[in-house]
Amino acid sequence: MLRTTLIRLAPAQRAALCAARPRLVGCAFMSTTPSATPSRKHEALEQPAAGPSRLSTPDAVSTVPTMVRGDWVLFHPVYTTAEMKAVEVLHREAKTVPDKLAYGLVRLARWGFDFVSRYKHKPMSPAGAAMTVEELRKAGHLLDERGWLNRILFLETIAGVPGMVAATLRHLTSLRLMRRDSGWIHTCLEEAENERMHLMTFMTLRDSSIWFRALILGAQGVFYNLFFLAYIVSPRTCHRFVGHLEEEAVLTYTRCIEDLEAGRIPEWTDKPAPGIAIDYWRLPADAKLLDVIYAVRSDESTHRFVNHSLANLEAARDVNPFALREPDMFTKGRKIAFDRDEAERYVRESHSLMEQKKREDA
Ligand SMILES: [Fe+2]
Ligand SMILES: [Fe+2]
Repeated sequence: MLRTTLIRLAPAQRAALCAARPRLVGCAFMSTTPSATPSRKHEALEQPAAGPSRLSTPDAVSTVPTMVRGDWVLFHPVYTTAEMKAVEVLHREAKTVPDKLAYGLVRLARWGFDFVSRYKHKPMSPAGAAMTVEELRKAGHLLDERGWLNRILFLETIAGVPGMVAATLRHLTSLRLMRRDSGWIHTCLEEAENERMHLMTFMTLRDSSIWFRALILGAQGVFYNLFFLAYIVSPRTCHRFVGHLEEEAVLTYTRCIEDLEAGRIPEWTDKPAPGIAIDYWRLPADAKLLDVIYAVRSDESTHRFVNHSLANLEAARDVNPFALREPDMFTKGRKIAFDRDEAERYVRESHSLMEQKKREDA
């Protein structure tokens, strides 16, 4: 049973496994760029303080932008170019009543958001090829730069909620019942932070109006509390809901990439990647916004795969198969989820890798 195969790693063991399998989750810390080398962090922290304490300076954070960059986040996957291109738009057919409910709620949420934001995806007609970008936008075939950013920023403020709610509730359950969590909390927390990093990246492109911020405030107040209550009742349905939500996110970013590559968002053609994104995804210094969107879509594909897989497990008993490592994007981008048997095989494979590494080191 999955429960009997829980893996808990000491830091030294994790480092050994990362050395053996560099694609393992958690190894992002070990792949470094000049701006994100752990030793630089230590150097910076060990430097003697010069002048007045920065902690007592009101803008202490903003006055040290070059001290430590990129390695304050939880570990997360870093993708190759081939992995980022491997992502496919997928949909899991809902068969049970709770699954149909979860998918129906996602469709309802998508319809509501499209209605409020006056967005309708219109497939391009043959006549569209002869129209200019401006004409296509006026005809409702294309979103402009502002429309894309509104859509992305709002969706990312919502997408960062479920992982934090799930992590919070599982954390409280572990404390309350004095039992181990089986590795779910960390994956949920990492997802929440990953979504927040999407928001932090895109917000560098545009300052939001007070009305937009008010909309986010209201949406967060409603969604956080509803999701919190729903997760208490049925964690499985909630992970399924998030899996379907991430299907929509992959679709949205895929359409964005298609428009951008076809020159239909001219404002973003050759736009440099924000510095925060270069640090987070370990992108080359000359990376473009298009590279960032590819990386974000890969993250959404990870969330799709992980949440649909978790929804196939027993939330109260099973080990999280992704607590130690995750499949690469050729799996996560092309397969909708692990079923329960596949999850168990994956955990067993993780154990075998650990044992193999221990034998090699002995
Ligand atoms: Fe996201
Ligand atoms: Fe996501």
